[in-house]
Order: sequence, then structure tokens, then C-alpha cells
Amino acid sequence: MMYDVIIIGSGPGGYVCAIKAAQLGLKTALIEKRNTFGGTCLNIGCIPSKALLHSSQIYAEASHGFDALGVKLAGKPQLDLPAMMQHKQNVIDANTNGVAFLLKKNKIDSFIGTGKILPAAAAAAAHKVEVTKADGSAQIVEGRNIIIATGSEVAAVPGVEFSFDEEKILSSTGALSLKKVPAKMLVVGAGVIGSELGAVWSRLGAQVTIIEYLDKVLGNMDGEISRQFQKAQEKQGVIYKLGAKVTKIVRQDKGVAVSFEPAKGGAGETLAADVVLVATGRVPYTAGLGLEAAGVKQDARGRVEVDAGWQSTVPGIYAIGDVIAGPMLAHKAEDEGIAVAEILAGQKGHVNYNVIPAVVYAEPEAASVGQTEEELKAASIAYKTGKFPFSANGRARAMLKSEGFVKILACARTDKVLGGHILGFGAGEMIHEIAVLMEFGGASEDLARTCFAHPTMSEAVREAALATFANPIHM
Ligand code: NAI
Repeated sequence: MMYDVIIIGSGPGGYVCAIKAAQLGLKTALIEKRNTFGGTCLNIGCIPSKALLHSSQIYAEASHGFDALGVKLAGKPQLDLPAMMQHKQNVIDANTNGVAFLLKKNKIDSFIGTGKILPAAAAAAAHKVEVTKADGSAQIVEGRNIIIATGSEVAAVPGVEFSFDEEKILSSTGALSLKKVPAKMLVVGAGVIGSELGAVWSRLGAQVTIIEYLDKVLGNMDGEISRQFQKAQEKQGVIYKLGAKVTKIVRQDKGVAVSFEPAKGGAGETLAADVVLVATGRVPYTAGLGLEAAGVKQDARGRVEVDAGWQSTVPGIYAIGDVIAGPMLAHKAEDEGIAVAEILAGQKGHVNYNVIPAVVYAEPEAASVGQTEEELKAASIAYKTGKFPFSANGRARAMLKSEGFVKILACARTDKVLGGHILGFGAGEMIHEIAVLMEFGGASEDLARTCFAHPTMSEAVREAALATFANPIHM
């Protein structure tokens, strides 16, 4: 069988690409080395973490937040961690089985095994991928095009020697499956994973200390959002050590010890805890793919180099998602997957990298799209700002969710919206109101002149837009 396209990796980039390619009439093969589809996101990332974030938030609210709403519980809410983990597993199963169903429905041939690209002769019309199963048996899959969608893996910490045992020294994978709530948890890295999984265990009762190299949490987010986010987490009991470089991670008989020193230099400190979660970023996953022998060039950070149409240095071999440059986000990979499928089907695939939302699913949520104030300043772009706090929003008050604000950044000359940033309950949903506007090149006045239902949290988005080009009503 000669496939039109062979996709290696079934994460959100790979499986979405496969479905789109099949929908466009391309004969499609998908290779996956796990026994289930969906990659990191569905199996050990986005989806299971959201299950635990939701359950732990309900538990935290039942423990502290119901009284003020006039709901009294007979006793203290009890944590049933095995049941919470079972809920997480059910969600994983439903999603990974859902992908398997969609692949079948779209008549995509799937191969379970590890894919390796075989070097092709210069003028070859076809590419070959060797798929090796867990039992060592191998088969060759042949196709006109290959798409590398192998994602990323946990990064090491430069200069620090340790190995993940997923019991005391945890990556995000281990932190999603702890058997009991640790009394003390250390987290290295106040990025997205550290913030989300730190929040889960803090809500369930652990004393969480997050050690971060930078002077701010959520490094890529707008500075104001990041400061307010940090304050909100501190109010919930999370302790931060910012501007601190981790130098040592040691597994001990009882728990772990983590040493760190001021990033600017100075006396160091060591903290002991039951477990440590190391969340210092991820790196492209290309081990065993045979890229070098196949002539596929990678940059200094191991990312596959691609042109504007996601084609690598070898004609007919493409790459999408975490394995190439850009934000390591599932939805960015999905959009690239769709675009490549469209290109291979003779259409015009496109991704607007200026409008890729990012969401941190703690409480309150932090969400962002487009440029931050820091980026606009660095690019010397004249901009205006409109802000509106949820404390002035009726629906937010009614739900006791008045923490946070909406901030809109627009071009000082044209009023075109250049960025939107939200901290608040449901920010991850509301951010798309700004994303859609930006996709259509809209101005803050366009958003402000749209009728929003009352009472909704989203009215704060409209008020922030009003504040950008005129004045808000409720401030
Ligand atoms: P990250 O890049 O978001 O954060 C890593 C943090 O670790 C940075 O703030 C960095 O300054 C810090 N760090 C690095 N070395 C350090 C050291 N030696 N000592 C102290 N701090 C140190 O990476 P993270 O959280 O591991 O996430 C990996 C990827 O997964 C990210 O690209 C993220 O966008 C993605 N992701 C996205 C989610 C979402 O969209 N909600 C959820 C989880 C992950």
C-alpha cells in the first residue's frame, strides 16, 4: 500500500492532521508507539491535569468557600484520592477511545509501534518508515509524504544531576498519579506545569513551595497578569522563591532535598520535602527517529527546521507541533496539522501565529492572546490600554468570583486590538472573544459596540474594550 501521507505521532498535532488529511481524500497512515492514541496531551498532560484541577477545585471550595454562599456541610468534606484518580482515568479513557473511534470512522490505518524514517535515495518518489512493535517485530510503511508529529519530552535541568523516579522526584507524569497527598511538595519552575500541578496538590492539602529562576511567575505572560496571579496563589497558600536557581536535587531516605541559590549570586538555601516536581520546560522528542541519516536538519535546540509550509530540509518530510519552533501548545500543533493536510491536498494551509491563545488553568485562570505590554514596549509600538476589574462585574460578585481583571491592548493610531489578557474565573473561555475579534483584525470599538448578555462575566471584556477607546460604564 502506498499512502499519500504517513504521520508519526498521534498527539493533538498528529491525530488532527490525520483526520483532516483523510477528510480531504488522502490515504492516511498514523504511527503511534503508545498503546493508546492522543499523545502526551490526552494520556499524561492537558486532559488528565484538567480532571484533577476540576476535582481539586471543587474539594477546595467545599472546604473553604461554601459558607459564604450560605451552604453548610454537615462535616468537613472528605478527600477520596483513589476515586479522584479513577475519575481522571475515566476521562483519559473516554478521550483516547474517542480518538480511536474517529480514526476508524475516517478510515485511517493506524500502526502501533515506534517509527523510524529510513533514508531515501535523492530522487525517490516515496518515503519509508520502519515501525517496530513492542515484541521487536518490524514492518515497513511506505508513503509519498511523512509528517513528524512526535511532540516533546521533559527537559533536564542544566548542571543538576538527578533522575526522575516518579515517586519522590516527579515529572508532570508522576505528579498526576501520586498515591497520597504529600505534606510538603517542592516545585522547580513557576511556568505552566508548575503552576497548574502545584495548585492541584496545594488545594488537596500539601504545603507547596515553588522555586523559580526568573523574577516572575508564568514567564511568558503579561507582567501585570503574572503579578496578580502570583498574589492570588499566595493567598491560597502557595509559597514562591523567585529569582532562585536550583543547583541540587537529592533523593533521601525520607523525601527529597532541593538546594538553590539567588540567580544573581549569593548564599544558597536547601529545603526538604516529601516530593519534588521538576517542571522546567520541555524539549523536542526525536530520539530514534533516524532524522540525521534521513537528512532532516535540526536546530541547536533539537527542533526540526521547517519552511513556511512546514516542510523540512527533505522534500516530502514535514514537521508540526512541539517538535518544531513556537509555543508548545496542543492547539498550535492542531492548527499546524490542519494546515499541512490542506497543503498536501493542494489547498492553502495557514496558521496565524499572532493569534494563538494561552491559558493557565489555575484558580483564577490566566489567559492571554496576542502581544503583552512588555512585547509592545520592546517593539516600540504605540499602544493604548483598557482595563476592567471583575470586582465591578455583577455576575462575578454574585458567584464570589470577583478576583482578577481584563486588559485589552490596542494600536494607539488605528485602535486595532493587538493583545488581550484576562485573569479571572473562566478566563480560558472568555479569551476567545478577543481571539475571534483579532482574527478578523477588529478594533476595541468593534468589541465595545457588540451587545453582550447581562449579567455575564464576559461583560468585563466589553467594558475593558470600552475603556480602551472611550470610558467604561461601570467604573
Ligand atoms: P515553562 O517553560 O512554562 O516553565 C518552566 C519554568 O522553569 C520557567 O519559568 C523557567 O524560568 C523555570 N526554570 C528553568 N530552569 C530552572 C532552574 N534551574 N531553577 C528554577 N527555575 C527554573 O515549562 P513547563 O511548565 O515545564 O511546561 C512545559 C511546556 O508545556 C510549556 O511549553 C507549556 O506551555 C506547556 N504546557 C501548557 C499547558 C497549558 O497550556 N495550560 C499546561 C502544561 C504545559
